[in-house]
Amino acid sequence: MTNDNTESDSLTRRQYVKAGGAGAATLAIAGCLGGGGDGDDDGETTSPDDGGDGTTQSGDDNGGGSGGELEIVHWWTAGGEEDALQALVEGFEEEYPDVTVNNNPAPGGAGSALDTEIQSRILNEDPPSTFQIWPGKALNTYTESEVLVDIGDSVWGEEMRDAYLEGVKQMSQPAGDYVAVPLNIHRLNNLFYNVSVLEDAGVDPGSLDSPSALLDAMETIASETDATPMAHQTQAPWSSVQLWESVLIGVAGVDVYQDVLDGNVAANEDAVKEALQLVADYSEYFNEDAGSVAWDEANSGVIQGDAAFLHQGDWAAGQYKAAEDFEFGTDWEHVPFPGTGGVYHVVTDSFVMPTSNPSPDATEKWLRYCGSVDGQERFNPIKGSIPPRTDVPDDEFGPFLTAQREDFENSDAQPPSIAHGTGVTPEVKSNVEGAFSSFNGSWNVDSTYNELTNAF
Ligand code: GAL
Repeated sequence: MTNDNTESDSLTRRQYVKAGGAGAATLAIAGCLGGGGDGDDDGETTSPDDGGDGTTQSGDDNGGGSGGELEIVHWWTAGGEEDALQALVEGFEEEYPDVTVNNNPAPGGAGSALDTEIQSRILNEDPPSTFQIWPGKALNTYTESEVLVDIGDSVWGEEMRDAYLEGVKQMSQPAGDYVAVPLNIHRLNNLFYNVSVLEDAGVDPGSLDSPSALLDAMETIASETDATPMAHQTQAPWSSVQLWESVLIGVAGVDVYQDVLDGNVAANEDAVKEALQLVADYSEYFNEDAGSVAWDEANSGVIQGDAAFLHQGDWAAGQYKAAEDFEFGTDWEHVPFPGTGGVYHVVTDSFVMPTSNPSPDATEKWLRYCGSVDGQERFNPIKGSIPPRTDVPDDEFGPFLTAQREDFENSDAQPPSIAHGTGVTPEVKSNVEGAFSSFNGSWNVDSTYNELTNAF
């Protein structure tokens, strides 16, 4: 189970940037001494296109005759996510048996514990080989501090560049150089449900055409069944932030949402407040233990038939896949969050290569593997996500993800997320989370609105 620690503010952005700059300076000195700061330290040239299919690479190593140890820091310990990471690691180990993987998670949904750990390790010049991070604006702090290696030549060969979706490639180079390798595309605007609970309540999910229609359906479920209408977690702020994101798109559309992301909260006061009010109204129907559970613990209520709906990214579908006797179509189903039909609200994860890297060659191998057909074909079907490469075959993806892939291809808009860092800087994200940690519990629309006007 995850432990959704509230994001710590122990390092302010200013401190981080300053100290990160110091790290970069030290790195330059290490470079003069011949230490490995920015990639291969063995003088060998490795070509990312050696293998033709982006998976098979020459057997170079860290210069000592062995592939070395690759330390991977990530937050995938929750239902289904652990299995997906494991499948990826197994594929990697088959491809690169010379590298020993040190799987070192920092548990906490939506990275609620990882960032602080990574920042302090980077400040101490003791980074792991690689860590999980959202591409896009979430990378800003790290690129500004110059603590990520430019992997444009060593990892992003022509083969990868040709295969990736253009928008995802853009997110991998937020400051000009390629610094990240995206592995997956999650959809955030989902409404999952337990089929029997909705049938018992007489609720037709196909009729839910707006966020307020969902509120009416929850009232019906509360009066017709013993089930919790909506499974949710309020232990950490991110799940309510993302719920508000989806409700905002549902009531006002993508252009208004994007305008809010651009900082124009007051210009959209009515929509922002309406969305907050709906989330406050939904909160009446959350599980009683919402304040003390992680997202996957809340989702267990849907699996057990104790809860009707869940708003989450489709990592929740990874948990359903891992559950026994809980099948798509008969036991669980999905509609786009009411009012957001043509929208694919994108959340994507990537891995990066910090400077002062303890295992440059092994890290490059890992990143190339994350960018390969084989890696993405093993990982995504289990994770509940679709691949950012366009050439990964459909076969392993099953009916739910095949439908998500089609929805993605046919979508009118693919906005980025606040709660999952792709659409706002870490500073803005942290301000929004501050507003929502009070909102979770107070459900005070006016004061939260005021905080949001200052957050962006
Ligand atoms: C997201 C991440 C997903 C999933 C989720 C829940 O931020 O992109 O892969 O892990 O958090 O923890």
